[in-house]
Amino acid sequence: MHVGIVRERRPGERRVSATPETVKQLQSLGLDVIVEAGAGSEAGYADAAYGEAGARITPTLALAELDVLCHVAPLTPETASQLKRGAVTVGLASPASERDTVRALADAEVTAFALELVPRISRAQSMDALSSQALVAGYRAVLEAATRFPRFFPLYMTAAGTIPPAKVLVLGAGVAGLQAIGTAKRLGARVSANDIRPSSADEVTSMGGTFINLDVETAQDTSGYAKSLSDDRAERQRQLLAPHVAAADILITTAAIPGRPAPLLVTADMVAGMRAGSVIVDLAAETGGNVEGVIAGRDVAVPTAAGDGHVTLVGLKDAASAIPFDASRLFAKNVANLLALMTEQGVVAPDFDDEVIAGACLTHDGAVRHAPTAELLQGAK
Ligand code: NAI
Repeated sequence: MHVGIVRERRPGERRVSATPETVKQLQSLGLDVIVEAGAGSEAGYADAAYGEAGARITPTLALAELDVLCHVAPLTPETASQLKRGAVTVGLASPASERDTVRALADAEVTAFALELVPRISRAQSMDALSSQALVAGYRAVLEAATRFPRFFPLYMTAAGTIPPAKVLVLGAGVAGLQAIGTAKRLGARVSANDIRPSSADEVTSMGGTFINLDVETAQDTSGYAKSLSDDRAERQRQLLAPHVAAADILITTAAIPGRPAPLLVTADMVAGMRAGSVIVDLAAETGGNVEGVIAGRDVAVPTAAGDGHVTLVGLKDAASAIPFDASRLFAKNVANLLALMTEQGVVAPDFDDEVIAGACLTHDGAVRHAPTAELLQGAK
């Protein structure tokens, strides 16, 4: 079967869905891999390296001839409509926002797998692109903050005087938040964090952070994810966070509720109440933002209430793409591992009795199989 690796075309997308290493893995499954020329060049993987791994390089993928198409960013409706009936796609799909593509995939009778939908269970961890890419994003968020901060992160005791360590506050201690805590600790900062899932206190401590216990009821659903707080509780959380935000030099926000806009944790007044020179990096900027006034892909200079300078508010966008080599290395393994789960003797044949395969499937046989997306599309008619 022919597996195509597309050259990503979305502006800002520098990752690739296969590396020379995963080309070898796919070939060991009995699949033929065709790489679109330049597919890995932004991420640091040359065409020649794919060729040496055994892939065929082609100037442009002949979409209608592929049995499988691997991608990173959601496909366009045009690409989806050129695929042959029964073709399999694997990549990120953003089904809630990319509804025209979902319709086009269903209309073309493509079997589309969305990596966002892979169940968060132990057996599927090696296919979990949300986790692998959140790890990259959490690390990057701290580096973005450090390069804008006019001070050091670590404590320095020198002959010329003592410099105190920076205070980093992380709000939302999921996969990205925990990586941010670990990275800030390694840079020598003093790190504290808050989350509304009850298990997060231990996780924060294990990364070397101090957990801030707010007197707000925890909110978690049966699958271990955070639930939205009521308006009253969200307001109380903001009030209780205010002094911690004011005391921080660096604020990293990563809070998210699956399928919902990001919760607002920090108001414009709280931003203005921080010290001049402080930096906020909002990783949730692309889904509405945790911080009032954030703009995805931009730095905003917010004047302090004290009138002595400004706070830099960074709306981080395409964070995982900013470290494209390693982000692709992890992403490509997620893709190859999911494909391996549905490949027998060189034939990709998804078994929908497998909960990972069934859970990750977005469209099949002309229908939208992911119920929440099907409902969204139905409502939009
Ligand atoms: P996410 O990206 O959906 O959310 C990020 C974080 O924001 C979460 O920790 C969430 O609790 C937090 N949050 C939401 N509202 C908040 C608020 N108002 N204030 C403060 N924090 C708030 O979640 P992510 O990082 O994808 O995963 C969260 C958890 O799911 C993990 O820490 C883990 O426990 C579990 N998980 C399990 C996996 C598995 O078993 N395979 C894989 C990945 C995650």
